[in-house]
Amino acid sequence: MARSQFGSKIGLIAATVGSAVGLGNIWRFPAETQENGGAAYLLLYIACVFILGLPVMLAEFSLGRGGRSDSIGVFKKLSPGTNWWMVGGISIFAAYFISCFYMVVNGWTIEYLLQSITGNLYAPIEGVAAGSSALFEAKMDQYVNSDWMPLIFTWIAIIVNIAILLGGVQKGIERLSNTMMPLLFVALIALCIVSLTLPGAAEGVKWFLTPDFSKITIDTAVSALGQAFFSLSLGMGALITYASYYPSDAKMTSTSVVVAFMTLLVAVLMGLVIFPAVTSFGLADHSLRGTTLVFQTLPEVFSYLPLTQLWSTLFFVLLLVAAMTSIVSIMEVPVAFFCDRYGISRRKSVIYTHLPLFVLSGLCSLSFGSLSGVEIFGFSIFGFFDYVSANLLLPIGGIGLCIYLGWFAPRDLLKNQLTNEGAIKSNVVGIIQFILRYIAPVIISVILISNLI
Ligand code: TRP
Repeated sequence: MARSQFGSKIGLIAATVGSAVGLGNIWRFPAETQENGGAAYLLLYIACVFILGLPVMLAEFSLGRGGRSDSIGVFKKLSPGTNWWMVGGISIFAAYFISCFYMVVNGWTIEYLLQSITGNLYAPIEGVAAGSSALFEAKMDQYVNSDWMPLIFTWIAIIVNIAILLGGVQKGIERLSNTMMPLLFVALIALCIVSLTLPGAAEGVKWFLTPDFSKITIDTAVSALGQAFFSLSLGMGALITYASYYPSDAKMTSTSVVVAFMTLLVAVLMGLVIFPAVTSFGLADHSLRGTTLVFQTLPEVFSYLPLTQLWSTLFFVLLLVAAMTSIVSIMEVPVAFFCDRYGISRRKSVIYTHLPLFVLSGLCSLSFGSLSGVEIFGFSIFGFFDYVSANLLLPIGGIGLCIYLGWFAPRDLLKNQLTNEGAIKSNVVGIIQFILRYIAPVIISVILISNLI
C-alpha cells in the first residue's frame, strides 16, 4: 500500500504548525517567562529557536522524508545493520510518556470549554465570594483536583483522539489542522485586542517587553532551550513521522522557518494576552505555574470582563485546538510505528496504541485526586511522566538525533533533502551540518546534565 502523504502544501504546514503550537506555547511559555524575567527570557528563547531549534527540526525533516518510515524505521532504512534505531526507540517511548499526561490536560480543556459554554464555571458557590480567586480555586478543586469528572473527560479526550487518527493522515490530521488552525489565530488575536485595551494594560506590556539582563543565569538559558525543544515538538519523532508524509517537492527549509515563526508568534501573542490582563486586575504576583494560569487566573480575569462567557469560551476553544493538533502528532508517532513495523492496519494500530492510555492517563488524572499522595521518586504520577519525558527522554533523543545526522547518516542525506535532490538551491546545508555536528550536541548535553543535578 502506498504510504500516506499530506495532500497540499498548506495542509502540511498547518499540520506541522499544529503539532508545534500547543500547551507548550500557551501554558508553559507564560509561566517560564514570568519566572525568568520577561523579555530577557523571550530573547533567549528566540535565539534558541533559530540557532538550535531550526537545525534540529531540519534534521528531523530530512530523516523523515529521506527514510519515509516511522521513527525507528527511518534509522533501519538509512543505516541498516546499526544500532541507531535505538534513538528512534527512545523517541517512541518519549512520545508515549508525553501522551499520558498531555491527554489529561486535553481532558480538562474539554471540560472547561463545556463549563464555559454552559456558564457553570462562573456560577456562584454558596459561601464563596463571586468572581474571586477563592471561587476559581473551588472550581478547580471540582474540575481538576477530583476523581470522576477529570477522569471521564480524559477518557473523552482519548476517544476524540482515536476518532481523528482513525481518519488517517489526510482526512484526519490534515483536515483537522486546516480547519482548526485558522480558528486558533482568530481567537488569539481577538483575546489580544481585549487584553491590550484593558486599563493599565501598558504596564504589563512594558514588563513583558523590557529586558532585564540581570535575570539571565545558566538556569534561564537551560529552560529557554528546553522550552524551544518542547514548543517546536523536537526530539520525539513527531516531526520525523510528519515529514515522512511530506511530498518530495515540499520545501523543507521554508517550511521550518514558517513553523518556527508561527510558534514564536503564538508565544508572543499569548504573552500579550496574559501579562496585560493579569497586571490590569492586580493578579501579576500570582504564580502562573502549572494549572493555575489557565484554569484559575484566566477564568478570574474573564469574570471581571463584560461578556465573560464569550471570552472564556473563545479561550478554551483556542486551548483545545492547540492541544488537539499537538496530541494527534504525538500519538501519530507510535501509531505509525505499529503500522510500518508490523504491517497492521491503521485502524488496529490506533486502537491498540490508545487502549493503554485509558489506564495510564487515567492514573495521571487521578494523581490530582485520590492518588495525590502517591509519589514516584518524589514526583506525583503526572509530574513523573512530565519530568521524565520533557527533561530526560527529549534531550537524550535530541542529542542522538544530532550526532546521527551530523556524523553517521548517509553523507548526502541532509543536502539531498534540503535541495529536493538538487531541484532547488540551498545555501544553509553547511551551517546546519556544522551546528548539528559541533554545537547542538554539546549544548543539549549541558541541559541534560544540569537537569540531572
Ligand atoms: N509542541 C507541542 C506543544 O508546544 C507539544 C508537542 C507535540 C511535542 N509534539 C511533540 C513536544 C513532540 C515534544 C515532542 O505543546
